[in-house]
Amino acid sequence: MRLILLGAPGAGKGTQAEILSEKLNIPTISTGNILRAAIKNGTEIGLKAKEYIDSGKLVPDDVIIGIIKERLAKEDCDNGYILDGVPRTIAQAKAMEDMGIKLDKVVLINCKDDTIIDRMSGRRVCSTCGRPYHIKSNPPKKEGKCDCGGDLSTRSDDKKEIVEQRLRNYHLETEPLVEFYKDRGLLVTAENKHTIPETTVEIERVLGIK
Ligand code: AP5
Ligand code: MG
Repeated sequence: MRLILLGAPGAGKGTQAEILSEKLNIPTISTGNILRAAIKNGTEIGLKAKEYIDSGKLVPDDVIIGIIKERLAKEDCDNGYILDGVPRTIAQAKAMEDMGIKLDKVVLINCKDDTIIDRMSGRRVCSTCGRPYHIKSNPPKKEGKCDCGGDLSTRSDDKKEIVEQRLRNYHLETEPLVEFYKDRGLLVTAENKHTIPETTVEIERVLGIK
């Protein structure tokens, strides 16, 4: 199955992608995680991306398209994948169509901006695998440690004013993708207003896999 998880920053894409990836046995491809790893490793892409991420702006399309081309060519994508946070502009979506990518579904995860701002203040992410947690609603088994053993920390772009900037960009640059994929008959919508497991059930229901 080839899926896109579409939604605002903090809507729950990463959380649900991890759960679905285990259930469906297909990899999650998160451009956010790939970019943060590139920053950590000091690569050329990382150096380019850092100022955009830290100021809550989108990284230029050509950088993202290059990353996706390279990542989807890997063998573990042969049986499907979950794209978390990509595409994020119409140009990225069109470039993926030009690459011949055939999608099964695009899941829009809906969450109110107020709920997002509230949840982001309690988010912690693994610096090794990128998995997101929440200090209250989704805590790790051991405080400060990911279940993979990596250290948990707050993301540099999770400061309230940067989150608000990211939400503004989402409404302006990414939300037009809702119509884009509706027009192609690929869009399904799941609400993320209750617990994490309840949202997973809702996503499975709209995907018709439960
Ligand atoms: P990226 O890392 O993708 O960030 P994002 O889209 O802003 O989304 P987040 O990761 O912040 O949120 P999420 O939807 O994954 O929510 P989560 O599951 O963690 O991108 C970062 C940056 O990289 C971008 O700003 C941009 O600069 C750049 N970038 C990346 N891709 C790009 C692209 N394609 N084009 C251009 N630039 C790109 O959940 C949030 C919190 O809520 C967590 O703490 C979680 O535990 C909690 N939570 C989730 N669901 C629930 C629930 N039901 N109840 C209670 N708590 C919940
Ligand atoms: Mg995420």
